[in-house]
Amino acid sequence: MAKIEKAAKEEVLAAKNLDELNELKIKFLGRERGALTSVLRNLKNLQPEERKTTGENANRLRELVEELFEKRLKELKKTEFDSVLKKEWLDVTRPGAKKERGGLHPITQIRNEVERIFGSMGFGVVEGPEVETEWYNFDALNIPKNHPSRDLWDTFWLRSSQKSQIPNPKSQRLLLRTHTSPVQIRYMQSHNSPIRIIAPGRVYRYEATDASHDIQFYQVEGLMVDKNISIANFKAVILEFFKKLFSKDVKIRLRPSYFPFVEPGFEVDLSCIVCNAKGCSVCKKTGWLEMMGAGMVHPKVFEAVGYVPGAEQGFAFGIGLDRITMMKYKIPDIRLFHSGDLRFLKQF
Ligand code: PHE
Repeated sequence: MAKIEKAAKEEVLAAKNLDELNELKIKFLGRERGALTSVLRNLKNLQPEERKTTGENANRLRELVEELFEKRLKELKKTEFDSVLKKEWLDVTRPGAKKERGGLHPITQIRNEVERIFGSMGFGVVEGPEVETEWYNFDALNIPKNHPSRDLWDTFWLRSSQKSQIPNPKSQRLLLRTHTSPVQIRYMQSHNSPIRIIAPGRVYRYEATDASHDIQFYQVEGLMVDKNISIANFKAVILEFFKKLFSKDVKIRLRPSYFPFVEPGFEVDLSCIVCNAKGCSVCKKTGWLEMMGAGMVHPKVFEAVGYVPGAEQGFAFGIGLDRITMMKYKIPDIRLFHSGDLRFLKQF
């Protein structure tokens, strides 16, 4: 028993971890082969006197060994806790790692600005679908099938999966809208005058790309309809818009032009904001920049949406959002917008 006591004192207190301690517990106190257990089991073979003292001693020894285990267990648990604490210690006063933050695309920024400026003049913002029908994109805008003016818009046609069962004179053939003008039609179909809206959105053209042409770009359509609306109203609104957008005292000029859904139609030029109309490479020495198409809403368009002929007038315009973003930030190539190039995007 003295041997057991010595061994227990040495080994239990030297156990390096909880596993080792468990093994020792089996070795000394295990029910089957524990050293102390076999001493107790042997008691019945001893003389009564001897049995009593040996029994008492053995029980005392068991208590002692159990105390040793308790002691070592506490120690081991504490070292384990200390080492976890050391491993997982963290300095809450340390400055955090900075999260990378995204930003708004330059076109989105300008779109927001355009919406704000027109909003200040009482224009609401509406949207229309990018997948349009032939009727909305062309026919309702006085661009009939086979008319040469359709050549102005190179179109992505979509294969429509289901043919309408009901005969419909309005062509349901699907396409990617080539301009935002169909939103004029949709809006007038569901609203009476007075109307004051802009309709920003993406449009598509099937054409070769270069520094100033892409197959997808953004337009902002504008439409104002009321009794007694004239070109003077249009000039005032659009001049105010450009002045606010470029924060400059700019000039505009109108040149006659042709769009089937307006009469008269014109192109709007802006005095060059790069050289202040003195003549530079951006305005090709003319002092003027071509900015948009516009005109007075054609009677055929009013007819297509079911308005009473002659009851009201209106003006409409279409601005290239990419183009004004390029002007504002001096971006040389339209293809950069969709390049996903972070070196480009991080500049805005
Ligand atoms: N929709 C025309 C285009 O994309 C622009 C335009 C809009 C012209 C409204 C006149 C009036 O070219």
